[in-house]
Amino acid sequence: MADEKKTRILITSALPYVNGPVHIGHLAGAYLPADIYARYQRLRGRETLFICGSDEHGVPILLRAREEGVEPQAIVDRYHLMVREAFEGFGMSFDHYGRTSAPLHHETSRDFFRKLAKTGVFVRKTEAQLYDPEAGMFLADRFVRGTCPACGHDDAYGDQCESCGRSLSPRELKNPRSAITDAVPEVRDTTHWYLPLGRMQSSLEAWLSGHEDWKPNVLGQVRSWLREGLEDRAVTRDLPWGVPVPEDVAAEASVDARGKVLYVWFDAPIGYISATREWAELRGEPEAWERWWKDGDSELVHFIGKDNIVFHCIIFPAMLQAHGDYVLPANVPANEFLNLEGRKLSTSRGWAVWLHEYLEAFPADYLRYALCTNLPETKDTDFTWRDFQARVNNELADTLGNFVNRTHSFALRAFGGKVPPLGKGGPEDRTLLEACAKTPARVGEAIEGFRFREALETAMALAREGNRYINEREPWKTRKEAPEVCASTLHAALQCAATLSVVLDPFLPASCRRLRAQLGLEGLRDSGPGGGLGSPSREGCFTWDDAAHPLLEAGAPLGDAGILFSKIANEEVEVQVAKLVEGGGEGREEDSGYVPLESPCAFEDFAKIDLRAGRVVSAVKVPKSRKLLRCEVDLGFEHRQILAGVAEHLAPKDLEGKRVVVVANLAPRKMMGLVSEGMLLMAEDREGRLAPVTTDLEPGSVVR
Ligand code: MF3
Ligand code: ZN
Repeated sequence: MADEKKTRILITSALPYVNGPVHIGHLAGAYLPADIYARYQRLRGRETLFICGSDEHGVPILLRAREEGVEPQAIVDRYHLMVREAFEGFGMSFDHYGRTSAPLHHETSRDFFRKLAKTGVFVRKTEAQLYDPEAGMFLADRFVRGTCPACGHDDAYGDQCESCGRSLSPRELKNPRSAITDAVPEVRDTTHWYLPLGRMQSSLEAWLSGHEDWKPNVLGQVRSWLREGLEDRAVTRDLPWGVPVPEDVAAEASVDARGKVLYVWFDAPIGYISATREWAELRGEPEAWERWWKDGDSELVHFIGKDNIVFHCIIFPAMLQAHGDYVLPANVPANEFLNLEGRKLSTSRGWAVWLHEYLEAFPADYLRYALCTNLPETKDTDFTWRDFQARVNNELADTLGNFVNRTHSFALRAFGGKVPPLGKGGPEDRTLLEACAKTPARVGEAIEGFRFREALETAMALAREGNRYINEREPWKTRKEAPEVCASTLHAALQCAATLSVVLDPFLPASCRRLRAQLGLEGLRDSGPGGGLGSPSREGCFTWDDAAHPLLEAGAPLGDAGILFSKIANEEVEVQVAKLVEGGGEGREEDSGYVPLESPCAFEDFAKIDLRAGRVVSAVKVPKSRKLLRCEVDLGFEHRQILAGVAEHLAPKDLEGKRVVVVANLAPRKMMGLVSEGMLLMAEDREGRLAPVTTDLEPGSVVR
């Protein structure tokens, strides 16, 4: 099977829009599976390149910039760095991470467009569109607001009414206005280039018929598009942000190129090509990218989320076919969507786990593991923090961690830090070693079929078997009674741990690296960036397939001990859930920065609140909580324990000794296992700075 494969494999993950940070939904869709796949291919010794980058064009980025009153470049600069770092923190092993505002990308996509124009691929159409005379630009559908012709909602978008859900075209709106200047738009003619997908359909179908083995969820969507019949697609837009339409092409068509850019879905996938070029240039081999894109011996695999299927299975392949110089995708293993605690992930509503925030709380491998057990491979799945905790505690810590840790530390103690010999070995030892021998091929087969959950499950089954084996063989008993038997047991168990350190590497790269150091196992091919380059039999390196044979030699020294996975306490996940609820709650305050006034409150209601002066006797941080300070407050007539959620803003010494105002009759509440008997009043300014409300009067004084 391996022999039928092409020499090189080029793996891509969808270029994320950088109008915000990335969250776990992104990771589960297009990034984690791709990274596992890339690491596996490198470990196999296959020539591998893994490419990604930021998608920096498109209307949402432009809108975001307008909202903030900055240039689009400032938005993409900010999030490009943030996203790149978050990916790095998660061990995404891109050989190169590019960006579509790079000059080389502009050049590459303009050349691509030029070639299609010169060879007569495009058709041009002139149509009336809405134009904002004040802003001096044509209005993208989203930039037009007006009254919905169907339901009368007076703030419908040019492409859709959010009230009745109907999809619209901007010219159907009554009383249209520009969302940018509020001006009344004019109707003007504008010319655009179209990809004539209608007449490209049959050649696309011919190509797709060779890919009946793609994932059913992907083929399902593709077939339904084809059944409905493809329509011509405009590949240029009137927008002030994007890759400019080549002036020479426009001039030849007697079209004014000013204000015209390539459609974001035309230039973004070309980003895979331009990022590969950039990678080659950085290596000092500027032609090297062609081996990946122009050589028939290169296999291209796109990892994406399901909302990207039409672009990667129809539009981009049509572009590639029309261009003629480049390889087409061999597979497009799209995933479905991940939900979060039973709700759809939403960037705008703050219902998300952001990668950069996750990384402040837990190691990357924990989330890689939990997400992989639950990838939306065939249908949407749901991520919950409870499940995350259970996976980490029961599977990573109790099964895998426990097995390798007890094996390794026993060998350190009982065999002087060396791998003991197998000796004669018994049937049980051979059974375990046979299970080890079969595992790499089984895991590999699942990965090659894009069944990552099954692959991980198969690898973890070996860890469970190892654990069971130790329990049954009881080496702590045989150590005295039958030292040779004990040696065989530990030999086999260490071999099993070594196999695990290879077959789990794509899933848990950082932990497996540490595990190999503990086992004294050196020389595995690098699954990280650059590890898929150079000759397959790189000197001294062993590969995935070699893990079918025992990897450790008797007598070889073991490395130092260490805990690979620690358990997660209830409080730690409670903090995460609380953060989610806070972040995903109500909308934020007005832009002026002043929080709008609450609705009126009857005097009797206010009078129910008992406010008192109190003195903060002591304040300390609550362990494992980012927000809470535990304060002891003297109310004159008694002392109280009060938890204040201010630790991100104030230090304990900002409160200690202060005479504060306390809500003294608030019902007690429990947080992080501690009872809070009241609340300290805080003032918050428009920048979000906090300060306690203070008084000069003695503790116990009534405030009203
Ligand atoms: N930015 C797009 C998204 O987030 C994906 C672009 S993939 C590419 O949905 F192929 F265009 F690069
Ligand atoms: Zn409507």
